[in-house]
Amino acid sequence: MTKPSYYITTPIYYPSANLHIGHAYCTTIADSIARYKRADGYDVMFLTGSDEHGQKIQRKAEAAGMTPIQYVDGIVANFKKLWKMLGISNNDFVRTSEERHKKVVQAVIQKVYDQGDIYKKNYEGKYCVQCEAYWTEHQLEEAGGVCPDCGRPVETMKEESYFFKMSKYADRMLKYIEDNPNFIQPVSRRNEMINFLKQGLEDLCISRSTFDWGIKVPFDPKHVVYVWFDALLNYFTGIGYGTDMEKFRKFWPCDLHLVGKEIVRFHTIIWPIMLMAIGEPLPKMVYGHGWLIVDGDKMSKSKGNVVDPVALIQEFGPDAIRYFLLREINLGSDGNFSRDALINRINADLANDLGNLLHRTLTMIEKYHGGVIHKVAIEDAGSTELHTLLDETLKTYKADMDKLAITDAIKTLWQYVGAANKYIDTTAPWVLAKNPADAQKLEAVMYDLADALRNIAIMLEPFMPFTSPKIFKQLGLAVPEQFLLADVGWGGTPDGTKVHKGNPLFPRIEVNEKGETVHAVSKKAAKEVAAPKTAEAGVATVGEITIDDFAKLDLRVATIKTAERVPKTDKLMKLSVEIGAETRTIVSGIAQYYTEENLPGMNVIVIANLKPAKLRGIESRGMLLAASDGQGHLVLVTAPGICSGCKVK
Ligand code: ME8
Ligand code: MG
Repeated sequence: MTKPSYYITTPIYYPSANLHIGHAYCTTIADSIARYKRADGYDVMFLTGSDEHGQKIQRKAEAAGMTPIQYVDGIVANFKKLWKMLGISNNDFVRTSEERHKKVVQAVIQKVYDQGDIYKKNYEGKYCVQCEAYWTEHQLEEAGGVCPDCGRPVETMKEESYFFKMSKYADRMLKYIEDNPNFIQPVSRRNEMINFLKQGLEDLCISRSTFDWGIKVPFDPKHVVYVWFDALLNYFTGIGYGTDMEKFRKFWPCDLHLVGKEIVRFHTIIWPIMLMAIGEPLPKMVYGHGWLIVDGDKMSKSKGNVVDPVALIQEFGPDAIRYFLLREINLGSDGNFSRDALINRINADLANDLGNLLHRTLTMIEKYHGGVIHKVAIEDAGSTELHTLLDETLKTYKADMDKLAITDAIKTLWQYVGAANKYIDTTAPWVLAKNPADAQKLEAVMYDLADALRNIAIMLEPFMPFTSPKIFKQLGLAVPEQFLLADVGWGGTPDGTKVHKGNPLFPRIEVNEKGETVHAVSKKAAKEVAAPKTAEAGVATVGEITIDDFAKLDLRVATIKTAERVPKTDKLMKLSVEIGAETRTIVSGIAQYYTEENLPGMNVIVIANLKPAKLRGIESRGMLLAASDGQGHLVLVTAPGICSGCKVK
């Protein structure tokens, strides 16, 4: 029997910088859905990738003194390392700079051109380079003159361009959304898109000729394809459009494009109209998830509150991070990330509920039965309530997951964990062990617990893929290549299984008075994560520079005069520094490593010609050099005894 197919995608992220916890959030959700579908017997195609072209990346590369491809190569390598660390099970990874992708984009744009849906005209309008998006005067007015998506200033664009006749399809698009209530999820996003379309749709500028980092327009190679027209087609590239049509037909139309809410518009208007134009069916569902907010604030580079997932994984382990992201935030809503909440979840749900259940169970099996699990016939078995609850749990869990209610599915599973813990308390095995007449009852209770853990591990695997195999190993069970929900049910643990109790899965995390975590991941566990180099170290892969590149940096010795913490951040320190005769303000992310008292008087090294940036409303002019080992230690590079203003070369 052939398996049914399931195709799920994440957005392809911009390699303009390393990824943050928001990107990890989206990819973890997609991964848990992909894993769930595999466990439910589907042939899954799970795709992610990198969106490498466009003006934003070209400018970033220029600023770094590199070619665009040199610039993105290092960062994309870091994407892949992060996904490996986090246990992401993508089946392919599309880089838009790949030849296979270029072929797809050129074939599609040519097809649309040949049928007359593309024309040339002079364009003058506003563009947000950050979002790579065009805006009309009306949209800008409503947003107070700035980009409605990111709030940054827009730029005037004036060039001859090719246009895609989107307006021609506007009515069909609106009707499609209205007729297919599941197409856009959640329903609030659907309503936004309906309102957007009702305001009328303009043709879309799909080529640029004032820069060249992109895929050449095949019928006019002076132009490159607009980065969104290019990027959306990654969903075709990953399943072999034009080269492996059998695979393409198997997986298209896509079951789920999971995207952040800010790019729902691109996926539910531009992309479907591209598909209509070339006569392909539309994706079955586009789900716009919410944003991760950090301690109540939107994450952004300029605010200096970007959370690095690599550091978190190294500190707490991948499954704790995955669990937190999946459990804490309802898909579709915005959610808050905070260290405190993360540590609470680890201690309460993982160390206490799940970790203890396994540890207590194995300790008792060792103590009472020499580490061997005895299977008892079901009619003699101890707990009918755990058996019935298991069937209900599986049913509810599947219904939750099928609705993409991941948080609910985890809660359902944890109710079962709770019931098993309670079962230990109510059956009191330590009392049974004292009475030889209760010997069979004790065996039945131990079996129930071991088998409950086996079932829990199977249902847990989509969320915590590193932990489920560990539970199986500790139970003495062979780890399957693919965990299958078909194996959930009472009685799957073979008689005579010998357990291998190991370390507790999740040691409790204590926080000392200074707010430092004490019991983070053990050294051994940290190694198991196959830790790639941290973001900082990843720079080594970014490519060589010449002495001329280096000469672009104006490095100066500076003396710190005053230091004060920026209110409501844990990282930022506002410094007043003297560089020769000049005094200026620099905001630096060193507040976790230095105090207001020990900074003044230090001679540090400053990149003096860095473009000024606003951090928390404070204009920062320059940046301090610091060395980081990626393990939470950061040390300023100092130049004791050298006069302020001296050039470093
Ligand atoms: O938009 N919280 O790439 P991008 C939750 N290249 N999710 C977040 C987030 C946050 N704070 N920040 C980012 C692009 N994301 C295009 C996509 S697809 C054909 C092209 C996630 O690097 C979220 O899923 O800006 C969002 O949609 C995506 O990252 C944007 O990543
Ligand atoms: Mg974005």
